[in-house]
Amino acid sequence: MNEKLNILLATSEVVGFAKTGGLADVCAALPQAMARRGHRASIILPLYRSARQAKPAPVPTERQFTVVVGQKVVETRLWHTTLDDGVTVWLVEQNDYFDRDDPTQGRGIYQYTRHDGSRADYEDNCERFVFFNRAVLEALPLLDAWPDILHVNDWQTGLIPVYLKEQYLHRMGESGPLGYDRLGTLLTIHNIAYQGTFWHWDMKLAGLDWRLFNPRQLEFYGKLSFLKAGIVYADLLNTVSPTYAREIQTPYFGYGMQGVLWENRDRLFGIVNGVDYRVWDPAIDRHLPANYSLDDLSGKAICKAALQREFAIAEDAAAPLCGVVARLTEQKGVDLITAVAPGILDAGGQLVVLGEGDRKYHHVLQHLRDRYPNRMGIYLGFHEAKAHRVEAGADFFLMPSAFEPSGLNQLYSLKYGTPPVVRATGGLADTVTDASPENLANGTATGFRFGGYSAHECWRAVERAIGMYRHYPEFWRQLMRTGMSQDWSWDRSAAEYEQLYQRLRKPR
Ligand code: ADP
Ligand code: GLC
Repeated sequence: MNEKLNILLATSEVVGFAKTGGLADVCAALPQAMARRGHRASIILPLYRSARQAKPAPVPTERQFTVVVGQKVVETRLWHTTLDDGVTVWLVEQNDYFDRDDPTQGRGIYQYTRHDGSRADYEDNCERFVFFNRAVLEALPLLDAWPDILHVNDWQTGLIPVYLKEQYLHRMGESGPLGYDRLGTLLTIHNIAYQGTFWHWDMKLAGLDWRLFNPRQLEFYGKLSFLKAGIVYADLLNTVSPTYAREIQTPYFGYGMQGVLWENRDRLFGIVNGVDYRVWDPAIDRHLPANYSLDDLSGKAICKAALQREFAIAEDAAAPLCGVVARLTEQKGVDLITAVAPGILDAGGQLVVLGEGDRKYHHVLQHLRDRYPNRMGIYLGFHEAKAHRVEAGADFFLMPSAFEPSGLNQLYSLKYGTPPVVRATGGLADTVTDASPENLANGTATGFRFGGYSAHECWRAVERAIGMYRHYPEFWRQLMRTGMSQDWSWDRSAAEYEQLYQRLRKPR
């Protein structure tokens, strides 16, 4: 039976409040999609400095409480604001922990920039997120309604299911049990490579019993892992695509977690992310110089010319323009991007890269740009509006990830008529259909795929894309149209999340 649910999603990122990647897009869009399906949905995240600038602006409430972190008793209070579809956002204020991000000083929400330019995690990340995890549970009695489902995301919220089962389950209020025993927990793993691993003495800081520090529970190779803790303690688990759910049970993709995931495979599901088409649709995108749609593609040429100007490269309508938007990390296959770049540029193509991340990649990209100033443009930073303009202005989108749990950029590319060239892994394998002769004939092709993580295979796929763009414009248009007409909206994925939530609902 499809009962109305009350879902609380706990996360460290929500777009508009704080974002480093797709986690933020998902954590904003999924609750809104659940609200549209008739459920009550709210979100809880830390009140970072950037979150204070969100719209509509968060305001402080009178709901104050304390949280025990190691030996400390930390004071906090909730702020709130409302998103579309009536989704309430709760923000946990604690300025020592969360009022420190400032991009102009190289300070992000998890990391800061050292004097030598390299990036490092904040030394107190464990403490910050122990605080946040406990604060979420302490806040529940102060919210407007008791949730049925607590949906936690990635390592930053991984201890919540542990605290719930070990310390909160039987908490009593003035008139009986508070309701912690009625909560069902879902952990979504957006990326197994980020595990929230800290030295074993942080068990004390976390306030957890040493008996839990064993390989079947919280210990991960001698350390405390928030992610493993979440995997062991959450009622149900999912990752963000069916292929990635299978991949992470193997050593290459599992980053050491393959064993615990394999053991828990009966509780592990894969649901591909959706797209918020109210934000990512070239027909209504307010970041673009011109809008376009399936029925009238003319605006795309305007977007391309504007992108060439914005990135200071030759304004050449015929040059195949390759776009990249990515966190510049190993995951995103930046080695392959830089390896195939000279091929694209020497073939008369162009390349535009928007990204931020490892310094070594910044250097290689700067070096390449200096070699091809007229054909290659880069922006090394985080810029939401530019991300939209690259999706729209490029002819094809390159995403040769070493692994990709789901990936949103290839889905944006499909909608923007910018066929993606992808490595067939994780969500990329689940969402992009290769332009093989058969798939072109049966009308399912949407992009170009390759298998092995090698510059050679990547180049072959890029070469096919450039070849089709130049010599088979009819096929190219077919590819664009097929991608643009597909529906990767949240409605589809939200229905799958709803099934998991319904399984978690406990009788009142
Ligand atoms: P991941 O979450 O692994 O970074 P996704 O494809 O799921 O990958 O999502 C990435 C999101 O972050 C997209 O919304 C993309 O537009 C955005 N993004 C990544 N890098 C940048 C950047 N430098 N500037 C603006 N947006 C970016
Ligand atoms: C992670 C993954 C990405 C996914 C996103 C949102 O950052 O790297 O593939 O789309 O989370 O789930």
